[in-house]
Amino acid sequence: MLDQVISRTNEYIENMPKKERKKYGQFFTSKETARFMAELYLIDGNKQTVSVLDAGAGSGILSCAFLERVSEIESVQAIELTCYENDKKILGLLRENLEYCKSHMTKELSYRILTENYITSQYLEFNQLLGADPEPDKYDYVIGNPPYMKIAKDAPESKAMPEVCYGAPNLYFLFASMGLFNLKDDGEMVYIIPRSWTSGAYFKHFRQYFLTSGKLKHIHLFGSRNKVFDKEDVLQETIVVKVQKTTEVPDTVTITSSQSNGDFANLKSLTVPYNLVVSGEDYYVYLVTDETEVDVLDKLHKFDSTLPDIGVRMKTGLTVDFRNWDILRDEEEEGAVPLFYAQHIKQGKVQFPIKKEHEYVVTDQKSLTQDNHNYLFVKRFTAKEEPRRLQCGVYLSKNFSQYSRISTQNKINFIDGTFTEMSECLVYGLYVLFNSTLYDVYYRILNGSTQVNSTEINSMPVPDLQSIQDMGRKLMKSKDMSESNCNMILEGYCG
Ligand SMILES: C[S@@+](CC[C@H](N)C(=O)[O-])C[C@H]1O[C@@H](n2cnc3c(N)ncnc32)[C@H](O)[C@@H]1O
Repeated sequence: MLDQVISRTNEYIENMPKKERKKYGQFFTSKETARFMAELYLIDGNKQTVSVLDAGAGSGILSCAFLERVSEIESVQAIELTCYENDKKILGLLRENLEYCKSHMTKELSYRILTENYITSQYLEFNQLLGADPEPDKYDYVIGNPPYMKIAKDAPESKAMPEVCYGAPNLYFLFASMGLFNLKDDGEMVYIIPRSWTSGAYFKHFRQYFLTSGKLKHIHLFGSRNKVFDKEDVLQETIVVKVQKTTEVPDTVTITSSQSNGDFANLKSLTVPYNLVVSGEDYYVYLVTDETEVDVLDKLHKFDSTLPDIGVRMKTGLTVDFRNWDILRDEEEEGAVPLFYAQHIKQGKVQFPIKKEHEYVVTDQKSLTQDNHNYLFVKRFTAKEEPRRLQCGVYLSKNFSQYSRISTQNKINFIDGTFTEMSECLVYGLYVLFNSTLYDVYYRILNGSTQVNSTEINSMPVPDLQSIQDMGRKLMKSKDMSESNCNMILEGYCG
């Protein structure tokens, strides 16, 4: 059945301009991915009737994959399918496809297509407001590939789900939250969604809701970013998650990964303690793919301080150069102070000047400059192909003692003492952490993007202040700033 549904969908894609589909965040799941998703459910072998929800059903690819899957379960006699879809242009195809499935199935299929907005139509029920249906629709299974679309913070969908929003949300996590709401207790949902929600402050409310009311049972990571969606140009890194609606924390979660997309025959599979994958009050999800990464998490999660706990904090550089053309200078002049860029970070040190354009600023604006203190500079952006995500350099104020203030471009981050200036040994100690392989791997597990965010860095586990200073003294003594030396020093504190 699925082959037929897919081939009709391909015809639809050919005839429908991309611009039209984009309005609804519409792109379609590939056959292999849809089958893989449907296979993930643990279906009770005693059930005679199963109910399933596919919200944002499109042409019905996922519904059809699910129907194929349950058709194999002997006990199941009847399937009740509910599809939500609000793009009128695809409703004809959806209906046609579901009729096709109905006539080709050995089991009884009853289906309904709801054309209202999946989110706003359940506003009263989700928020348990006056007038809500006391018995909202709940399903045994939920399957979905939600629309991926950023919407305004005052869009009707955002206002319908204030509990999970923080600023301008993305429709995909509103769908995932509503999907979980629509599940019966202990029911399972399988969703294909971007990876971005697994870390960062912006998704915290969603993570809190999703991972309190539900528990991750299976996560699948794709080998490469694109080509997860056949014929579609989706560059977001995407994952598949299976979530069970339960408050009971499972012992483990399974994480699979495929080298190339669509190749689900050769999966790498790992079973990991649940508390290692979902951890801390921020509900971060750590996407480990092998035992080495598990080992990294194990080691670092033994540390129970964070940078703010030890009196320091990472901040983002102060000056957006292209918005401040008038204050930039190529050469030093009266009143000018250095503006540090990522290019000034070299082999663990900060080199200045390097005859780069705009490496000085002249300004009275206090918010664009900072005290000439000791800092650890950390690049904010690195290219995908670079070997390390965390790249840092020790900045010592004494090397630039002619300046009382300096500035930092906002494409670097810097670590600063919260109350007092950091000592040299503390800066060097932080360098040991940030230049080690352990922390680099840790950051990659936590955040799939190439950007280094202060929020995540400030919540990373670090050793206590004394130990970090101690490490700094060892590094200063050895005068070897290499990654291998940092690894050796850090290893001594990993217990
Ligand atoms: C990413 S597509 C997925 C289609 C299909 N499930 C698949 O996997 O091939 C998301 C679908 O959700 C629909 N959609 C977007 N916003 C919606 C809303 N608020 N309510 C119901 N459907 C919506 C879009 O029209 C689109 O068909």
